[in-house]
Amino acid sequence: MQDFICIAHRGASGHWPENTLLAFQKALAAGARWLELDVHLSADGELVVIHDAALERTTDGDGLVALQTYEQLRSLDAGRGEKIPLLADVLNLAAGRAIVNVELKGVGTGEPVAELLRRRFVAGLLKPAAVLASSLNEDELRKLAGLLPQVPLALVAKTANRHLWQLANELDVWSLHLKKGSINQDLLAEARAGKRKVLAYTVNDRPQLQRLRDWGVDGIFTDYPEHFCHA
Ligand code: G3P
Ligand code: MG
Repeated sequence: MQDFICIAHRGASGHWPENTLLAFQKALAAGARWLELDVHLSADGELVVIHDAALERTTDGDGLVALQTYEQLRSLDAGRGEKIPLLADVLNLAAGRAIVNVELKGVGTGEPVAELLRRRFVAGLLKPAAVLASSLNEDELRKLAGLLPQVPLALVAKTANRHLWQLANELDVWSLHLKKGSINQDLLAEARAGKRKVLAYTVNDRPQLQRLRDWGVDGIFTDYPEHFCHA
């Protein structure tokens, strides 16, 4: 049986500021072999790692990420004095240590993420198997897939419906990233029939994790890799 997949959601974000290098370092130190992050575009076209479209919740700034230059974003505190990282910073940190699930959050991220990954593949800095591109936004995922067909893909969804299954077949996704409460055994059987993995988000307690594992879920996203992701 393939190993259960345990993904540090926004890094070790339960105890450390989410989507910062500190949170990713802590996740790696805790033994996580997978990191998840969220990507937006800055006003000057840099790929920055932050979950929300707006700055208020996770930084001391305000307004939309997409309206600020990278230099402006860099001046903000993303928690404990950490900066908002670039996607490239996290890929550098994870190189040879963890697979990175890049969630395309911001509009317009599909193409530049494909371009950045392509450059790293060509330079021998990254292998397609060390990255998993996901999104709730099918257009962004489609753009990336069209430019970089060798990258494994995942669809993010709150619940599975007909459209999601059709899309999963069309894009031939490796996995479905589903809200934990929407997962049931019928859904898992359908995924298995289509050879798609099912990963549940966000799982932060042991009984829940055990139930999902018993059902045959392939993996989880957790804010506490310290508790759930060591071998
Ligand atoms: O990709 C799984 C999970 O990260 C999706 O939800 O809102 O935490 O990005 P969110
Ligand atoms: Mg995410």
